[in-house]
Amino acid sequence: MERRKNNQLQLNAIQDALLAENVSPHLADQATQVVFGDGDPTAEMVFVGEAPGKKEDEQGIPFVGAAGKLLGQLLESIGLTRKDVYITNIVKYRPPNNRDPLPNEVQAFLPYLRRQIAVIQPTLIVTLGRHSMDCLLPGFKISHVHGQPQRIPVKHFGLAGSPGADGVQGSNDNRANRTNGTKSEARNQLTQQPAAKLGSASGSARRQDELTWVILPLYHPAAALYNGGLRNTLFEDFSKIPNILSTAHTA
Ligand code: URA
Repeated sequence: MERRKNNQLQLNAIQDALLAENVSPHLADQATQVVFGDGDPTAEMVFVGEAPGKKEDEQGIPFVGAAGKLLGQLLESIGLTRKDVYITNIVKYRPPNNRDPLPNEVQAFLPYLRRQIAVIQPTLIVTLGRHSMDCLLPGFKISHVHGQPQRIPVKHFGLAGSPGADGVQGSNDNRANRTNGTKSEARNQLTQQPAAKLGSASGSARRQDELTWVILPLYHPAAALYNGGLRNTLFEDFSKIPNILSTAHTA
Protein backbone atom coordinates (compact mmCIF):
# COMPACT_ATOMS: atom_id res chain seq x y z
CA MET A 1 0.00 0.00 0.00
CA GLU A 2 2.88 2.29 0.86
CA ARG A 3 4.45 1.68 -2.55
CA ARG A 4 1.16 2.34 -4.30
CA LYS A 5 0.75 5.65 -2.50
CA ASN A 6 4.35 6.61 -3.12
CA ASN A 7 4.17 5.74 -6.82
CA GLN A 8 0.93 7.68 -7.25
CA LEU A 9 2.53 10.72 -5.65
CA GLN A 10 5.49 10.43 -8.03
CA LEU A 11 3.16 10.08 -11.03
CA ASN A 12 1.23 13.15 -9.87
CA ALA A 13 4.53 15.04 -9.67
CA ILE A 14 5.40 14.05 -13.25
CA GLN A 15 1.99 15.23 -14.44
CA ASP A 16 2.47 18.52 -12.58
CA ALA A 17 5.89 18.91 -14.23
CA LEU A 18 4.40 18.26 -17.67
CA LEU A 19 1.85 21.03 -17.07
CA ALA A 20 4.37 23.43 -15.54
CA GLU A 21 6.84 22.87 -18.39
CA ASN A 22 4.15 23.75 -20.92
CA VAL A 23 4.79 20.76 -23.17
CA SER A 24 3.35 21.01 -26.71
CA PRO A 25 1.45 24.27 -26.11
CA HIS A 26 -0.19 24.13 -29.55
CA LEU A 27 -1.76 20.75 -28.65
CA ALA A 28 -2.58 21.88 -25.11
CA ASP A 29 -4.41 24.95 -26.42
CA GLN A 30 -6.73 22.86 -28.56
CA ALA A 31 -7.33 20.11 -26.01
CA THR A 32 -9.81 20.13 -23.15
CA GLN A 33 -7.32 18.71 -20.68
CA VAL A 34 -4.25 16.55 -20.26
CA VAL A 35 -4.81 12.77 -20.43
CA PHE A 36 -1.91 11.51 -18.37
CA GLY A 37 -2.61 7.90 -17.39
CA ASP A 38 -4.94 5.67 -15.47
CA GLY A 39 -4.79 2.49 -13.42
CA ASP A 40 -2.61 0.78 -10.86
CA PRO A 41 0.59 2.78 -10.21
CA THR A 42 2.30 -0.47 -9.19
CA ALA A 43 0.99 -2.50 -12.13
CA GLU A 44 2.92 -5.39 -13.64
CA MET A 45 1.90 -4.17 -17.08
CA VAL A 46 1.87 -0.73 -18.64
CA PHE A 47 -0.12 -0.29 -21.87
CA VAL A 48 1.03 2.56 -24.10
CA GLY A 49 -1.35 3.83 -26.78
CA GLU A 50 -0.94 6.65 -29.26
CA ALA A 51 -2.86 9.74 -28.17
CA PRO A 52 -6.23 10.59 -26.61
CA GLY A 53 -9.31 10.74 -28.84
CA LYS A 54 -12.50 12.75 -28.34
CA LYS A 55 -13.91 10.77 -25.41
CA GLU A 56 -10.54 10.64 -23.67
CA ASP A 57 -10.14 14.40 -24.11
CA GLU A 58 -13.57 14.95 -22.57
CA GLN A 59 -13.01 12.65 -19.60
CA GLY A 60 -9.25 13.04 -19.03
CA ILE A 61 -8.85 9.24 -19.00
CA PRO A 62 -7.10 7.15 -21.67
CA PHE A 63 -8.95 4.49 -23.66
CA VAL A 64 -12.54 5.22 -22.63
CA GLY A 65 -13.97 5.23 -26.18
CA ALA A 66 -14.60 2.39 -28.62
CA ALA A 67 -10.95 1.29 -28.70
CA GLY A 68 -10.97 1.33 -24.90
CA LYS A 69 -14.01 -0.93 -24.84
CA LEU A 70 -12.15 -3.47 -26.96
CA LEU A 71 -9.08 -3.09 -24.75
CA GLY A 72 -11.33 -3.93 -21.78
CA GLN A 73 -12.54 -7.09 -23.55
CA LEU A 74 -8.97 -8.07 -24.39
CA LEU A 75 -7.94 -7.65 -20.75
CA GLU A 76 -10.99 -9.62 -19.64
CA SER A 77 -9.95 -12.46 -21.98
CA ILE A 78 -6.87 -12.97 -19.79
CA GLY A 79 -8.73 -12.48 -16.50
CA LEU A 80 -7.84 -8.84 -15.91
CA THR A 81 -9.60 -5.49 -15.77
CA ARG A 82 -8.17 -2.08 -16.53
CA LYS A 83 -7.77 -1.51 -12.78
CA ASP A 84 -5.10 -4.25 -12.76
CA VAL A 85 -2.88 -2.47 -15.28
CA TYR A 86 -1.68 1.05 -16.01
CA ILE A 87 -2.77 2.67 -19.27
CA THR A 88 -1.25 5.72 -20.89
CA ASN A 89 -0.36 7.21 -24.27
CA ILE A 90 2.81 8.53 -25.85
CA VAL A 91 1.13 11.90 -26.49
CA LYS A 92 -0.90 13.28 -23.59
CA TYR A 93 -3.15 15.78 -25.41
CA ARG A 94 -5.66 15.01 -28.14
CA PRO A 95 -4.27 15.98 -31.57
CA PRO A 96 -6.83 18.03 -33.54
CA ASN A 97 -9.29 15.84 -35.46
CA ASN A 98 -7.47 12.76 -34.15
CA ARG A 99 -4.63 13.23 -36.61
CA ASP A 100 -1.46 11.18 -36.13
CA PRO A 101 0.95 12.69 -33.62
CA LEU A 102 3.86 14.54 -35.26
CA PRO A 103 7.42 13.37 -34.56
CA ASN A 104 8.20 16.55 -32.60
CA GLU A 105 5.12 15.98 -30.42
CA VAL A 106 6.15 12.40 -29.69
CA GLN A 107 9.65 13.60 -28.78
CA ALA A 108 8.27 16.31 -26.50
CA PHE A 109 6.26 13.82 -24.44
CA LEU A 110 8.77 10.96 -24.46
CA PRO A 111 10.68 12.04 -21.31
CA TYR A 112 7.41 12.01 -19.35
CA LEU A 113 6.50 8.54 -20.60
CA ARG A 114 9.96 7.33 -19.61
CA ARG A 115 9.49 8.77 -16.16
CA GLN A 116 6.06 7.16 -15.78
CA ILE A 117 7.58 3.78 -16.66
CA ALA A 118 10.52 4.38 -14.34
CA VAL A 119 8.14 4.96 -11.42
CA ILE A 120 5.86 2.00 -12.10
CA GLN A 121 8.67 -0.44 -13.00
CA PRO A 122 6.37 -2.86 -14.83
CA THR A 123 7.40 -6.38 -15.72
CA LEU A 124 5.96 -5.86 -19.19
CA ILE A 125 5.37 -2.79 -21.36
CA VAL A 126 2.73 -3.35 -24.04
CA THR A 127 2.78 -0.94 -26.98
CA LEU A 128 -0.52 -0.54 -28.81
CA GLY A 129 -0.11 0.32 -32.46
CA ARG A 130 2.68 1.47 -34.71
CA HIS A 131 3.25 4.92 -33.24
CA SER A 132 3.70 3.63 -29.74
CA MET A 133 5.96 0.82 -30.94
CA ASP A 134 8.08 3.22 -33.02
CA CYS A 135 8.58 5.29 -29.93
CA LEU A 136 9.96 2.48 -27.73
CA LEU A 137 11.19 0.04 -30.37
CA PRO A 138 12.37 2.20 -33.27
CA GLY A 139 13.14 0.34 -36.47
CA PHE A 140 10.78 -2.58 -35.84
CA LYS A 141 7.91 -3.47 -38.15
CA ILE A 142 4.64 -4.24 -36.39
CA SER A 143 3.50 -6.81 -38.94
CA HIS A 144 6.72 -8.75 -38.22
CA VAL A 145 6.98 -8.46 -34.46
CA HIS A 146 3.44 -8.19 -33.07
CA GLY A 147 2.93 -10.64 -30.23
CA GLN A 148 6.68 -11.22 -29.80
CA PRO A 149 8.22 -9.79 -26.63
CA GLN A 150 11.44 -7.84 -27.08
CA ARG A 151 13.97 -7.45 -24.28
CA ILE A 152 15.75 -4.14 -24.55
CA PRO A 153 18.45 -2.65 -22.32
CA VAL A 154 17.00 0.18 -20.28
CA LYS A 155 19.96 2.38 -21.20
CA HIS A 156 18.46 2.26 -24.69
CA PHE A 157 15.80 4.61 -23.35
CA GLY A 158 18.25 6.85 -21.58
CA LEU A 159 17.01 5.63 -18.22
CA ALA A 160 20.04 3.76 -17.00
CA GLY A 161 21.60 5.07 -13.85
CA SER A 162 19.30 8.03 -14.01
CA PRO A 163 17.05 8.00 -10.98
CA GLY A 164 18.41 11.44 -10.17
CA ALA A 165 18.42 12.70 -13.73
CA ASP A 166 14.95 11.34 -14.12
CA GLY A 167 13.73 12.80 -10.88
CA VAL A 168 12.57 9.34 -9.86
CA GLN A 169 14.36 8.29 -6.75
CA GLY A 170 14.89 4.61 -6.18
CA SER A 171 12.88 3.50 -9.16
CA ASN A 172 15.44 0.98 -10.32
CA ASP A 173 15.51 -0.59 -6.89
CA ASN A 174 11.80 -1.33 -7.24
CA ARG A 175 12.64 -3.24 -10.38
CA ALA A 176 15.42 -5.11 -8.60
CA ASN A 177 13.04 -6.22 -5.88
CA ARG A 178 10.78 -7.78 -8.45
CA THR A 179 13.45 -9.58 -10.40
CA ASN A 180 15.76 -11.10 -7.84
CA GLY A 181 15.12 -14.56 -9.23
CA THR A 182 17.32 -16.75 -11.39
CA LYS A 183 20.24 -15.70 -13.53
CA SER A 184 19.81 -15.71 -17.23
CA GLU A 185 21.20 -13.99 -20.22
CA ALA A 186 18.27 -12.50 -22.02
CA ARG A 187 18.43 -11.72 -25.68
CA ASN A 188 16.45 -9.48 -27.85
CA GLN A 189 14.47 -11.85 -30.05
CA LEU A 190 15.09 -10.06 -33.28
CA THR A 191 18.50 -8.53 -33.02
CA GLN A 192 20.02 -11.22 -30.81
CA GLN A 193 21.78 -8.48 -28.90
CA PRO A 194 22.89 -9.67 -25.47
CA ALA A 195 20.84 -7.93 -22.83
CA ALA A 196 21.10 -7.61 -19.09
CA LYS A 197 21.62 -10.36 -16.58
CA LEU A 198 18.83 -9.70 -14.16
CA GLY A 199 18.90 -10.74 -10.57
CA SER A 200 22.63 -11.37 -10.63
CA ALA A 201 23.33 -8.94 -7.84
CA SER A 202 21.52 -7.05 -5.15
CA GLY A 203 19.71 -3.86 -6.10
CA SER A 204 22.37 -1.61 -4.64
CA ALA A 205 25.35 -3.47 -6.07
CA ARG A 206 24.00 -4.28 -9.50
CA ARG A 207 25.02 -1.93 -12.28
CA GLN A 208 21.92 0.00 -13.19
CA ASP A 209 22.76 -0.06 -16.87
CA GLU A 210 22.30 -3.83 -16.85
CA LEU A 211 18.55 -3.45 -16.42
CA THR A 212 16.25 -4.40 -19.25
CA TRP A 213 12.63 -3.75 -20.14
CA VAL A 214 10.44 -6.35 -21.80
CA ILE A 215 8.25 -4.78 -24.46
CA LEU A 216 5.40 -6.51 -26.23
CA PRO A 217 4.34 -4.79 -29.46
CA LEU A 218 0.66 -5.31 -30.33
CA TYR A 219 -1.69 -3.91 -32.93
CA HIS A 220 -3.83 -0.98 -31.83
CA PRO A 221 -7.36 -1.97 -30.73
CA ALA A 222 -8.78 0.84 -32.90
CA ALA A 223 -7.26 -0.83 -35.96
CA ALA A 224 -9.00 -4.07 -34.98
CA LEU A 225 -12.44 -2.52 -34.48
CA TYR A 226 -13.50 -2.94 -38.08
CA ASN A 227 -11.11 -5.68 -39.15
CA GLY A 228 -12.11 -9.15 -37.97
CA GLY A 229 -8.74 -10.68 -38.92
CA LEU A 230 -6.81 -8.15 -36.90
CA ARG A 231 -9.23 -8.55 -34.01
CA ASN A 232 -8.52 -12.30 -33.91
CA THR A 233 -4.80 -11.63 -34.09
CA LEU A 234 -5.06 -9.19 -31.20
CA PHE A 235 -6.94 -11.72 -29.03
CA GLU A 236 -4.38 -14.38 -29.98
CA ASP A 237 -1.48 -12.08 -29.08
CA PHE A 238 -3.17 -11.16 -25.80
CA SER A 239 -3.51 -14.84 -24.92
CA LYS A 240 0.31 -15.04 -24.86
CA ILE A 241 0.61 -12.40 -22.15
CA PRO A 242 0.33 -14.68 -19.07
CA ASN A 243 3.23 -16.83 -20.37
CA ILE A 244 5.29 -13.82 -21.35
CA LEU A 245 4.79 -12.39 -17.86
CA SER A 246 5.89 -15.58 -16.10
CA THR A 247 8.94 -15.89 -18.36
CA ALA A 248 9.83 -12.23 -17.76
CA HIS A 249 9.59 -12.84 -13.99
CA THR A 250 12.12 -15.64 -14.01
CA ALA A 251 14.51 -14.11 -16.57
N1 URA B 1 -6.45 5.55 -28.79
C1 URA B 1 -5.29 5.75 -28.16
O1 URA B 1 -4.22 5.49 -28.69
N2 URA B 1 -5.33 6.22 -26.93
C2 URA B 1 -6.44 6.50 -26.31
O2 URA B 1 -6.40 6.92 -25.17
C3 URA B 1 -7.66 6.27 -26.99
C4 URA B 1 -7.63 5.80 -28.23
